[in-house]
Amino acid sequence: MSPYSRITGTGSYLPPRRLSNADLAAELATQGVETSDEWIVERTGIRARHFAAPEVCTSDLGAAAARKAMEAAGVLPSEIDLIIVATSTPDMVFPSAACILQHKLGIAGCAAFDVQAVCSGFVYALTVADALIKTGSATKALVIGAEVFSRILDFKDRTTCVLFGDGAGAVVLEASETPGILATDLHADGKYVGILCVPGTVSGGQVLGDPLLKMDGQAVFKLAVGVLEDAARATLAKAGKTDADIDWLIPHQANIRIMQSTAKKLKLPLSKLIVTVDQHGNTSAASIPLALDTAVRNGTIQKGDTLMLEGVGGGFTWGAVLLNL
Ligand code: ACO
Repeated sequence: MSPYSRITGTGSYLPPRRLSNADLAAELATQGVETSDEWIVERTGIRARHFAAPEVCTSDLGAAAARKAMEAAGVLPSEIDLIIVATSTPDMVFPSAACILQHKLGIAGCAAFDVQAVCSGFVYALTVADALIKTGSATKALVIGAEVFSRILDFKDRTTCVLFGDGAGAVVLEASETPGILATDLHADGKYVGILCVPGTVSGGQVLGDPLLKMDGQAVFKLAVGVLEDAARATLAKAGKTDADIDWLIPHQANIRIMQSTAKKLKLPLSKLIVTVDQHGNTSAASIPLALDTAVRNGTIQKGDTLMLEGVGGGFTWGAVLLNL
């Protein structure tokens, strides 16, 4: 049993089909839906998103990100003893995307399961993996966020379809004698189910209800800004740290205005905010590990830095993880 868990490698993957705002606006215009690069950039900070090809599933994106994370950590697939995939867009109703991904990586035998907390999914999954490592149930975990949100978008609803994209990010989390993950904080409040949901389900061989994403953007915006500050403060308190100890803030990459407002509330200069939402839009559970991997690989984030990861999303769910890289 080890006292701590620590991220030893990161990876990410975006499917090759990239649509700039102008590309998407042109496609939507053919269906009579009007939007513009100017509107999308000004309200969200998003400039492009990636969409997976029809035959590509969440487990494919997740496996690609996981391979890169294992390579970065110097860990072989055969050494992995836990796989957690955070996703709201699994390949099938069951089994889990984690089981399908496990097989694609050539791994067999270790525990593998999905965590469903929408855009807070990666923070939830990392917290669960940390706990399993600290209790001795696992020593080398793959924690993955992977999504094909393009499959659940209503391309006739311009208030939502311009916001989301597909992608995956992954980390290897290993048992460690030194920290590592310093503190975690998770929350949910189911009374807000209706403000962000995909209300449909499968029943009697048919899709029952509407299987496309519905969002009350302004309600989500207001809630997100408040709970992200609360989660960050609670996590810092648990770790005995203050705002000033944060080297980098990596919030869920949904909207630049929510992210900047969170940084301001934590009295962090915007130069400490990791931003990749411009390049891939909101990739739900994949967005935090995508941003983390991008910043690690371009040298922005260095080993030893203190990171605050923050998720918020449907449920309503929210949470934070403070860690030393
Ligand atoms: N292109 C052009 N115009 C648009 C578009 C679009 N894509 N979408 C909406 N509009 C129009 C509206 O019709 C409205 O026009 P009107 O004034 O003539 O009625 C106008 O723009 C303003 O619409 P609002 O909805 O008031 O715009 P708002 O400033 O609230 O921005 C947005 C909308 C971007 C969705 C914002 O509310 C937001 O970011 N909310 C948070 C969403 C979010 O972060 N969700 C993810 C978190 S959880 C998860 O990731 C699953």
